[in-house]
Amino acid sequence: MKRMTNILAALLMCSAAAVNAQTPVYLDESQPIEARVKDALSRMTTAEKIGIIHAQSKFSSPGVQRLGIPGIWCTDGPHGIRPDVLWDEWEQAGATNDSCVAFPALTCLAATWNPDMAALYGKSIGEEARYRNKNVLLGPGVNIYRTPLNGRNFEYMGEDPYLTSQIVIPYVQGVQENGVAACVKHYALNNQEVDRDHVNVLVDDRTLHEIYLPGFKAAVVDGGAWSIMPGYNKYDGDHACENSVLLLDILKGDWDFDGVAISDWGAVHNTEKVASNGLDMEFGSWTNGLNWGASNAYDDYFLAKPYEKLIAEGKLPMSDLDDKAARVLRLIMRTEMNRNRPYGSLNSDEHYAAARRIGGEGIVLLKNDKNLLPVADDVKNILVVGENAIKMMTVGGGSSSLKVQRETLPLEGIVANAAGRGVDVRYERGYVGDVTGEYNGVTTGQDLNDARSADQLIADAVKAAKEADMVIFVGGLNKSDHQDAEGADRTDFALPYNQDAVIEALVAANPNTVVVNLTGNAYSMPWLDKVPAVVQGWYIGSEAGNALADVIFGDVNPSGKLPITFAKSLTDYAAHATNDPTMYPGVNGDVVYKEGLDVGYRHTDKLKPSRVNFAFGHGLSYTTFKLGKATLSGTFSEADGVTVEVPVTNTGDRKGAEVVQVYVRDLKSSVVRPVKELKAFDKVELEPGQTADVKLHLDKSAFAFYDPATKLWTVEPGKFEILVGTASDNISTRLPLTIKDTLTWSDAVR
Ligand code: BGC
Repeated sequence: MKRMTNILAALLMCSAAAVNAQTPVYLDESQPIEARVKDALSRMTTAEKIGIIHAQSKFSSPGVQRLGIPGIWCTDGPHGIRPDVLWDEWEQAGATNDSCVAFPALTCLAATWNPDMAALYGKSIGEEARYRNKNVLLGPGVNIYRTPLNGRNFEYMGEDPYLTSQIVIPYVQGVQENGVAACVKHYALNNQEVDRDHVNVLVDDRTLHEIYLPGFKAAVVDGGAWSIMPGYNKYDGDHACENSVLLLDILKGDWDFDGVAISDWGAVHNTEKVASNGLDMEFGSWTNGLNWGASNAYDDYFLAKPYEKLIAEGKLPMSDLDDKAARVLRLIMRTEMNRNRPYGSLNSDEHYAAARRIGGEGIVLLKNDKNLLPVADDVKNILVVGENAIKMMTVGGGSSSLKVQRETLPLEGIVANAAGRGVDVRYERGYVGDVTGEYNGVTTGQDLNDARSADQLIADAVKAAKEADMVIFVGGLNKSDHQDAEGADRTDFALPYNQDAVIEALVAANPNTVVVNLTGNAYSMPWLDKVPAVVQGWYIGSEAGNALADVIFGDVNPSGKLPITFAKSLTDYAAHATNDPTMYPGVNGDVVYKEGLDVGYRHTDKLKPSRVNFAFGHGLSYTTFKLGKATLSGTFSEADGVTVEVPVTNTGDRKGAEVVQVYVRDLKSSVVRPVKELKAFDKVELEPGQTADVKLHLDKSAFAFYDPATKLWTVEPGKFEILVGTASDNISTRLPLTIKDTLTWSDAVR
């Protein structure tokens, strides 16, 4: 019997060994990814390597069929999972299982000032991508808000590199927990849509490193992003996809990026350059290199046959192709070939709850005189006015356009919430803006036409306003061209469609008027002194109406803070201060960032008297907070930095959350330093009367500038000031700090 058992055991061992011997390393998930990548690469022909580094359809690339290696499916991004399009067309594939939850736009996420919300966002959208079998989510976007005219600002995280960095890291990690790669975009300096395919950005090295790169660096180095999307624009003469400084020196050199640089769709122009300067995958070229608009031109992409030919002729080295193919294989192993990844979920209750929660936390209460909000108990009838109360905002705007399973409109949210309180709601249009509702074949199905004249619309709204206890105007921008949309910038800082006149008329008719604007950008507010309450609502997605109503009626106590400066006029932004066309939108193809570091509050906080309506970091609550005197715990050291402590008390009668913000100011420096820079923040939720001792850590990087001469981050000895407050223009404690030694370090992460 024992002998039998031994024979059986020996047989079993033999067959296990046979299976192992037959299982190639690249398919063996017990092996380290690098060993699998190396093994797969060693088995591939040149043609197969070329095959996996460019698209085969609008959003996919092939794998290696002979080896059973699957391809990659990408999807926009960044606010929800885009509906499927035809193989080689932008039009809809006509699928019936590709509706999604639209999450709030990234400006709204940034306005939460809450990394936990970014983690929830990333996890949720990653689950939707995973369920839809997408391997790469084309987002998030982290381009800095340089001008309020940029049509794509709504897809980004505002004007501050530190805030952007703190939000992008958990977003990327949350997405990738699902075995879906985040693709951080648009690397780098894609700060305007005017002439976006060719505009050449000229910016000094310090500004590049201190303002425009930190969000990308955080995503790559701290978030571990598996892919990144070089954009359409040029930097210093070369397109981003063909830019050796951005891709080889910084991304793959200093930051040690081991993922895939995926071109923006159609952003590649030249085989030699793109092959040699660090791009790994080409998508969307829509050309055979000669004719724009050729169909199914994939084999003729710059990184397809033309590249293979140059390698065969010995004009380009195989080593670069091997590196690109290895990176693509690594991405496939991390995503599609990781059989242990979760399954994902689509349109789940949890995702709607996440969208509503993030939306509610990102909404910013800008002004609330007479505590007009939340809606008081004695309000019995409300008039809602404005097109954005009834317009779907998830369709349009460019590649972030979605096909939602459902979208609660602001009016619907307000009506539903009011009904539970016995409050009547009436609606008046007030103005007609954009009645279209179609993007790449997805239609809203809404008929927003209204034949009344502009005067009649105002007259009707005013009449109803006089009869209401309270008026809620819901306006702003929308997702059509020259508003908040890809491919073009705004042409005006003012709200469009006569809205300023509508607001003036409403507040004259009824002083209890609240203005709620849905935008991804700042705008002028000529009516601000007359309007008692103003809410910045962003684009909130599927749960827009519910999230807005939560705040308006007080179910959610607002805690959002502006991630952008709301200046009074366009010329209060440094890029526009002198109306110099070389600074915006550029002349003869060049746009020069002459304002340097003076982006957002770094510029406006220097202007006396103040030129802002609402500063960066500003946002009110239905309760009140008091920051006690801040102190430093200990002295600064290179290894430990320094910790700021500040007691925060909820002095009102409702639970609420406050964001403590710490800015650093260098008092004496050999180079010009910004007037202040955000270097730490923390959101703390407090019960009425409760006090929390908030501790915020500043490491050495909080005091550094980038020295272009040495390429080193540098802290100069001397006096600094640490500013603690609740907005860039609301500082309650200024703490002196002296640093004794010069500190320097390189950007290289290795
Ligand atoms: C956009 C990208 C997008 C891509 C694919 C491009 O036009 O700039 O952000 O991911 O299209 O839709």
